[in-house]
Amino acid sequence: MPPKLWHIPDHRRKTSLLVWAVAIVCAILAIAAIITGIVVFAVYMIYQPKMPYIKVADAHLYQLLYGNSGSLEIEMALSLLAENDNNKALTSFSDLSFILQFHGIDVAELRAVALEVPKNSSTPLNYHFQSLPVPMDEEAMEAVSVAVQRGVVPFYLSGNARTRWKAGIFLSVRFWTRLSCELRFFWPNGSAVESGCVSRLH
Ligand SMILES: *[C@@H]1O[C@H](CO)[C@@H](O)[C@H](O)[C@H]1NC(C)=O
Ligand SMILES: *[C@@H]1O[C@H](CO)[C@@H](O)[C@H](O)[C@H]1NC(C)=O
Repeated sequence: MPPKLWHIPDHRRKTSLLVWAVAIVCAILAIAAIITGIVVFAVYMIYQPKMPYIKVADAHLYQLLYGNSGSLEIEMALSLLAENDNNKALTSFSDLSFILQFHGIDVAELRAVALEVPKNSSTPLNYHFQSLPVPMDEEAMEAVSVAVQRGVVPFYLSGNARTRWKAGIFLSVRFWTRLSCELRFFWPNGSAVESGCVSRLH
């Protein structure tokens, strides 16, 4: 019947058009993927990016007050360094926020405003702070006296910073870097035990 004879070729023509359209889109996507790959590889070879990071350069525990009141109070100096080992790319750090804890209890919170680190250099972030008396539970107080008797007092420093790696005007890569390490101090002299505390890609 004529209507049926018309329907079948029409349907076929539509199908082949659709197949062609899909094939062309796939080809374009494949070419785009290859070009992106070549560009990324070229940029990588030219800039040889290294991840920016935060490291603990120095630390000193000046005061450690604890007692029957069940609270802990410290005075500490902490020098962090925002490092950019890239020879060709500027790096910026933002949303820097770190927490210092003793035995799982927050002792101090350290923040910093956004900062830029030029090529192949570092920017210091120096903190010298006196904490408020922090209430400790019985277990934490026990941990303080054990630490003082042993002569090594452990704190835990953790936090994040957002970094942005910039090369040229259009290339900008963002990611988070995370710091998480134990900071130990000899007591009573307060000097830091070497820790090699460095932040890592998050
Ligand atoms: C990067 O800095 C180091 C020392 O801090 C220096 O030896 C090196 O030559 C510098 N590289 C460039 C490309 O400036
Ligand atoms: C602090 O004391 C420790 C252990 O008693 C010692 O190893 C360290 O050298 C001392 N640091 C300083 C700066 O005196």
